[in-house]
Amino acid sequence: MAKRTIVTLPGDGIGAIAMKEALRVLDTAGFKADYVHGDIGWEFWRREGNPLPQRTLDLIKKHRIALFGAITSKPNEEAKAELSPSLQGKGFIYSSPIVGLRQKFNLDICVRPCRSYKGNPLNFIRRGINNTVEEPQIDVVIFRQNTECLYSGVEWTNPPEVVYQAFMTHRKFAENFGRVPVEELSISARIFTRKATTRILLAAFDFARKHGYPSVTVCEKPNVIRETSGLMWKLAKEIQRDSYYDIKLVNTNIDAQMMWLTKNPEEYGVIVAGNMFGDIASDAFAGLIGGLGFACSAQFSEDKIAVFEPTHGSAPKYAGYEIPIVNPIAMIESACMMLDYIKETDISQRIRAAIAGVIEEGKVRTYDMMKMAGRPGVVGNGAASTTQMTDAIISKIR
Ligand code: NAI
Ligand code: MG
Repeated sequence: MAKRTIVTLPGDGIGAIAMKEALRVLDTAGFKADYVHGDIGWEFWRREGNPLPQRTLDLIKKHRIALFGAITSKPNEEAKAELSPSLQGKGFIYSSPIVGLRQKFNLDICVRPCRSYKGNPLNFIRRGINNTVEEPQIDVVIFRQNTECLYSGVEWTNPPEVVYQAFMTHRKFAENFGRVPVEELSISARIFTRKATTRILLAAFDFARKHGYPSVTVCEKPNVIRETSGLMWKLAKEIQRDSYYDIKLVNTNIDAQMMWLTKNPEEYGVIVAGNMFGDIASDAFAGLIGGLGFACSAQFSEDKIAVFEPTHGSAPKYAGYEIPIVNPIAMIESACMMLDYIKETDISQRIRAAIAGVIEEGKVRTYDMMKMAGRPGVVGNGAASTTQMTDAIISKIR
């Protein structure tokens, strides 16, 4: 197979730390690639007034595939204050480069697998009858629409007159909010399009069929949010009827799903949702399999750009440790998703087997797996450092 070129976007804090470890694993597992580094993150905001420079966008556009660590975002005032003095007062406005990436390349499909590893002390357990302890095997893959919904940024406080008047044409708005002074109104629009909703549904059904999941669960709230959630549910029924009659279609409401999460998580497989409910459901399921140290993701666009990243952030408080302590598994798993995408599944399976081996053996555990508070001393107290965890995984790659 031709050697691939991968754009690496380490970013800030532990993003850069974990990236190094993932590349070490890929290398040892025999993955041959050329890596090109892309600048992204806080440093470039401070120095250039842009945390996502055009040269980085050009690299991704050219090579179509990127592995991303994490970035640091800060509120507007802090961001302004940290700009280099020569850029101060010149009208630079900070915006998150990862949100920027998703928008620039229309990375509308986000996939977040949550699978429990045997022997992970962070796995969810529940009490069975007769005081037995059950540890359900969780194998859930969440398909989150990544560009629309309440995260589209179409929102107002004290909306302009034309917007206000448009809302007033809606009977329920006029009845319930018509007497609220306009300057006391904050409105965020929940936007779903037929095209993007269809794409995320098709991605979910297709994945279910390819990987042998018997059902697809739409996790929205169509009984209340009738237009947007309603659209997703309606399209899901059509798609299932026309093209995926072999796959069972299930409807759960997000609130009920959060309750069922701990009752019967093993009964879910592929879950599909809009942006916000997908975000919520994926964090919730990730909590059952070990949390941020284990949560990986992939994002895809229609024109075949793919970005793979752990869902954790840059955890700045752990960035400056002389001996890094964070769990590299989320990043390594994200790299495995990249390997799957480019059909290097032999390598990804060998890496996952190595991770499984280390976790099941239980000798090497990062501080989060020991349920310790993250402090510089954890390594002296029996927790593995980031590099020790990576070394353990590498030693088990067959
Ligand atoms: P975070 O995910 O960086 O960290 C939250 C906490 O989770 C950490 O303090 C740590 O206890 C734990 N944690 C995270 N990753 C871990 C790992 N690999 N191993 C062990 N423990 C881990 O989220 P936080 O603190 O809310 O945000 C920090 C910065 O990251 C902020 O500037 C935020 O804007 C940014 N962020 C960036 C994201 C991205 O680049 N995609 C996503 C989320 C936050
Ligand atoms: Mg989130």
